[in-house]
Amino acid sequence: MESQEAGGQAGLRVMRPEEATAARRRLPLSNRLPSPFPEGWYFLATRKAVEKGGLIQKTWMGENIVIWSDAEGRICVAKAICPHLGADLGPAAGGQICEGRLVCPFHGYEFDVTGQCVATPFAPAPRTAKLRVFETHDIHGLIFAWWGVDGRPPQWTLPTEPLEQDGWCDYEIDTLRFPGHPQETTENSVDLAHLRYVHGYDNVDRPERMSVDGHRLLSNFNFRRVRTIAKLARLTFSVSAKTHIYGLGYSFVDIREHSIGMNMRLWVLATPVDGKLIDMTLVSQVREIRNPRRLLVGLGFLPPKLRAPLINKFMALQQREDVLQDVVIWGRKQYTSRPRLCRSDGEIMPFRYYCAQFYPEPGNGAP
Ligand code: FES
Ligand SMILES: [Fe+2]
Repeated sequence: MESQEAGGQAGLRVMRPEEATAARRRLPLSNRLPSPFPEGWYFLATRKAVEKGGLIQKTWMGENIVIWSDAEGRICVAKAICPHLGADLGPAAGGQICEGRLVCPFHGYEFDVTGQCVATPFAPAPRTAKLRVFETHDIHGLIFAWWGVDGRPPQWTLPTEPLEQDGWCDYEIDTLRFPGHPQETTENSVDLAHLRYVHGYDNVDRPERMSVDGHRLLSNFNFRRVRTIAKLARLTFSVSAKTHIYGLGYSFVDIREHSIGMNMRLWVLATPVDGKLIDMTLVSQVREIRNPRRLLVGLGFLPPKLRAPLINKFMALQQREDVLQDVVIWGRKQYTSRPRLCRSDGEIMPFRYYCAQFYPEPGNGAP
């Protein structure tokens, strides 16, 4: 698989008309999306949080899950129900980690990071006692888990190439919880009109058509944006953004800001909680700015090493503001299966044909 950073169109192409027709047939005619839980990879936590947190419990896809790691850094994501007599395994119920094993609070069954019961206090471990585990994937410390319809295994992967970290500052991470659906939030990446109307971007244009290859979608756009910093300086940012979408839980935006000469990464990670709410996690990173083309207020006085973290904080706040503007709409909108689109709308329908693959019929390939 190509690097996320390569960003080019290699391997990606515009959907063929017959594929679009097949996908269109699978889209719902009613104004309801087929499921609040499209199949795919979804962000759960950072590795740092898992290693620091001991045992983490979360609601994910309408289920309680637990997350922990052993001393070798192997992470387990599992349903928080004990296969012995059904006790809740979360820390609130008394579940705990001892020497990398999850210990059930009810009768002390111990589970390793594969989910297998490896010991009990009073008898040999039953071989059939195994947690229901979810496959995980780590992208430079961001931990994702696969959710398959009917529990089927991963049908595709997230990017596997290591991400260049030299010269990049630490992540800024922010999670917002609100009523929404990951398809509706991801659709914003191709909805150019809202960029102008809701967020006030100028000169929005699409240098290339959206392209799709299986589970991957690439959408490019350029825009300008005027920002006032600390009520003092009005700055114009000129931005090219390439959005790499891998299913409805993972969007990676490769951003080049031209007027300062700055590279930035942004992940927009939507994870369904319970069928109504989603957690949207925003992760951003800025590359060291050595020779800024234009100095932001005060930036020139800072040593180069401090510039990127500072800009990253500023960008993360901007991003949060943008999402909060969208949340007002997302939290109240209804999915419209037959939108009455106009010419400035971008590629909403091709995006929806792409989405249809994430709602496979139950029983299709399930174990
Ligand atoms: S219910 Fe977990 S050990 Fe009995
Ligand atoms: Fe938006």
